[in-house]
Amino acid sequence: MIEANGKNFLMHGKKYSYALRVTETGFLQQLHYGGRVTEADLKYLIEIGETTAPHADMNMDMAFDRMLSEYGFYGRGDYREPTGIFERKDGASMSRLRYQSYRVEKGAPKIAGMPHVRKGDETLVITLKDDFSDIAVDLYYTVSDDTNVLVRNAVIRNTGAEPIMLKRAFSFRAQLPNGKYNMLRLAGTWGQERNPEIAPIAHGVTRLQSLMGCTSHNTNCFMGILKENCTEESGECVGVQLMYSGSYALTAEWCKNGALTLQGGICDTGFGWELAGGEEFVTPQALLTYSNEGLGGMSRGIHDFLRERVINPAHVYKRRPIVVNNWEATYFDFTEEKLYPIIDEASKLGIDTFVLDDGWFGKRDSDWSGLGDWTVNEKKLKGGLKALIDRCKKNGLKFGLWFEPEMVNEDSELYRAHPDWAIRKEGVEPCRSRQQLVLDFTRKEVVDHIYGVVSKVLKENEISYVKWDMNRNISEVYSAALPAHRQGEFMHRYILGVYDLAQRLMSAFPNVFFEGCASGGGRFDAGMLYYFPQIWTSDDTDGYERTKIQWGTSLCYPLSSMSCHVSVCPNHQTQRITPFDTRGNIASLGAFGYELDLSKMTDEEKALTKKQVESYKRTDELILKGDLYRLKSPYEKNYFCEMVVSKDKSEAYVVGERIHGIPCDYNQYVYLSGLDESAVYEIEELKIEASGKALYNAGLLLPKLSDFSSWRWHLKRKS
Ligand code: DGJ
Repeated sequence: MIEANGKNFLMHGKKYSYALRVTETGFLQQLHYGGRVTEADLKYLIEIGETTAPHADMNMDMAFDRMLSEYGFYGRGDYREPTGIFERKDGASMSRLRYQSYRVEKGAPKIAGMPHVRKGDETLVITLKDDFSDIAVDLYYTVSDDTNVLVRNAVIRNTGAEPIMLKRAFSFRAQLPNGKYNMLRLAGTWGQERNPEIAPIAHGVTRLQSLMGCTSHNTNCFMGILKENCTEESGECVGVQLMYSGSYALTAEWCKNGALTLQGGICDTGFGWELAGGEEFVTPQALLTYSNEGLGGMSRGIHDFLRERVINPAHVYKRRPIVVNNWEATYFDFTEEKLYPIIDEASKLGIDTFVLDDGWFGKRDSDWSGLGDWTVNEKKLKGGLKALIDRCKKNGLKFGLWFEPEMVNEDSELYRAHPDWAIRKEGVEPCRSRQQLVLDFTRKEVVDHIYGVVSKVLKENEISYVKWDMNRNISEVYSAALPAHRQGEFMHRYILGVYDLAQRLMSAFPNVFFEGCASGGGRFDAGMLYYFPQIWTSDDTDGYERTKIQWGTSLCYPLSSMSCHVSVCPNHQTQRITPFDTRGNIASLGAFGYELDLSKMTDEEKALTKKQVESYKRTDELILKGDLYRLKSPYEKNYFCEMVVSKDKSEAYVVGERIHGIPCDYNQYVYLSGLDESAVYEIEELKIEASGKALYNAGLLLPKLSDFSSWRWHLKRKS
């Protein structure tokens, strides 16, 4: 709900309020962001605000950095990180933005060419105008009564005739009052994506960012700001995440008066965007999620929001295909003869889709060649894709196919025909990460070409599933097609090209299910989820490592968005041996599948696979729609445990793992939060009946198991 009168603005979500006012000197001041307040409370909030607002009778230009101002400007008295920097023709870039007008619109704004929230109740748009340049900034706030997510972005307009260079164009600024906060970040590297780290926020600027052209394995575009006493189950926190998939920045800064300033958006390192007179620049949306139920409440709020309002509604709640993917089974070394046994076995085990990974096209016998040539390699696959698809159909399976649309090898027909389509700068030796170059997706003709060749494959073959990979970062940031003064636009234009291709393919093939991937989970963000309902979480499928990766990822992405496969042991990434059951149990907490040669499995493994698939079909509805409760963190002690509860609390699914056999750590309990306390539940595997209250207050004894062994419990409400 939005209450606005041109002087004060009060927005409410389910459990939060966000209050702003215009000071007597015309600045937009934030009065409150946190738990609910009422309109009547505005009076005293304004009185508090008055004490830090710049007044006309003082040297107001020196007072800005004490005020919780809604948009930080550069070079004029506000010495915190600016939200935007606007450089004029004469090189000047100081600015001072003041309130001009507001409007309230129904619903949520659509952003052409970029992922955006698909629905919302209403949107407040507040326009600020720069005193010193022709820049106007529209601040967007979309709220809905039934969520705790506030959607923010800014549209920067050049209202004059002369071009203005945007040197920074962040999406939002928000502030939290004086207090002690910790920051939760999701950090990692390839194979160890999104490990949560929680640390106190120190004085100065804390900045999370990616300069890689994608959101990266290293630091996800999410930061949690936790009040000192915030835990998994209780306390206040705010999750800040970007609906963006390119180079980004998120900052938290302590300012003089002790308020914490949060900002972020497109990464400004190397950024510059020329805004011609009359043009506007739309920044990506940011999602701010308030929780007074700890990190668990924050995650559940984000999961619901992404499922209900971001991920493609045509697919989000549909049963996910249970796939077998041939990558770890064969890598590049396959023929149809090697793949047929996998396909034949898959249908016997209840698997429904065979996904053919890298290596099916061009001269793709290794990662040195072929990328860009999206025509089937008939030397490897006699009878082409058709023969494989027929084999799948004969077995009642659907067929999925891997692409890496953004890439090219120098040894490819595409590169030989269009060397200038690869990102590189004449005279600079290109970085050949994984032996490949990145295509210049800032160029429309390149995106058009890739759309043409990929859609041809999709049109000519019965393909129900596409895995869209992206295996390297962007270097030599430069486009031969952009003039010198526009090179700073490269990174953002690149990701706009990716979004354009994704949107066109999604629109042309609405029934095809798209899975994202970036060398494992290197581009796992809310922007990608707008197009791809699930994303390959990590190349590390080890039954223990995955507890950590999935735990971290679940902090701000729903279980159904995480693609999770059972692979062989010793694990290809860690060499660790974990029980087959464990690999299945942990993978069942996401979009489930296999990544191995089914035909080489032992009979026992085959029987287990059949059981795992059957069991997954019992719980996949919970994974798609349920509420997640993280019960035991693998980062803290010797157990991992998570539970998903149906919205009506009639059933729940618990998966746990005991990491090491340590003497005497047996009498450990898990407390099942999230159940209906007044209901009685039956735990099928334990043959126990107990009330939701007892299961939470008295808990359940954790099983005594050996290294990396796991369990699952199905709970059903009896009364
Ligand atoms: C990286 C992905 O994460 C893998 O699953 C696989 O698709 C390879 N790329 C193929 O090159």
